[in-house]
Amino acid sequence: MVFDDRGILDGVSFRINAGDKVALLGPSGEGKSTLLRVLMGLVKPLSGNVVINGMPLEKVLDEWRDISFMLSQRSHLFRRSIRENLIMAKEDATDEDIEHALKVVDMWERVLQWGGIDKVAYEDFQPSGGEKSRLLLARGVLRNPQVLILDEPLEGVDKESEKEVIDRIKEFAKDKTLLVVSHRLSILAMADIFATLENGKITKVGNLEEHEKDSLLRKYISAEKQMTEKFWR
Ligand SMILES: Nc1ncnc2c1ncn2[C@@H]1O[C@H](COP(=O)(O)OP(=O)(O)OP(=O)(O)O)[C@@H](O)[C@H]1O
Ligand SMILES: [Mg+2]
Repeated sequence: MVFDDRGILDGVSFRINAGDKVALLGPSGEGKSTLLRVLMGLVKPLSGNVVINGMPLEKVLDEWRDISFMLSQRSHLFRRSIRENLIMAKEDATDEDIEHALKVVDMWERVLQWGGIDKVAYEDFQPSGGEKSRLLLARGVLRNPQVLILDEPLEGVDKESEKEVIDRIKEFAKDKTLLVVSHRLSILAMADIFATLENGKITKVGNLEEHEKDSLLRKYISAEKQMTEKFWR
């Protein structure tokens, strides 16, 4: 993968089985979001390919997009009603489906305070960063895909709400394939397989035990521990 003559991803190879819960982690600007875009067929690698169930991605792109959903870091909440913002993920969704999706992301009560799902974002109400993140996530819940791909899904969400939503998304994704990208350990912990992306390559894929002391995942965990310890001095 090359952007502006600069190599981003090179020699990336990994496999995800149906039902796996995988977290992808790595430094900022390393190419995580780019990798997800390759996976969704939004950018084409210069060489190599994505294989879905043994078929090259471009041959099964429509089917793949039917069964998968990616919440990208660039996902946008439109100046439209909450209903319209959500049903773009599932056109035949009922009001009950929408209510359910909003409950999963812990936004139902707030939406009622705003006056219901026909209220228009940025006109009738001004969502905070965390509220916006959760409304976008509700889009993915409504879609109910077999493969759920989340790129930094809970940006701006406070810790208490984050815990609540993570628990519910874990339950929601129980029978699905989940690929999640985040810098937050609480979100990475939704997965049980961790893939580290470093210098354009996947350097390790495995469960927590398989990530030995000098793995990037362990480094992140000890860095977070050191940072939170400062509060208890
Ligand atoms: N469309 C593009 N054109 C040019 N450069 C791009 C484009 N998209 C991404 N890049 C560059 O590719 C690199 C990887 O970007 P990417 O968004 O994949 O990183 P990331 O690992 O998701 O980072 P973060 O953790 O900050 O989200 C960055 O240096 C970015 O500037
Ligand atoms: Mg990114």
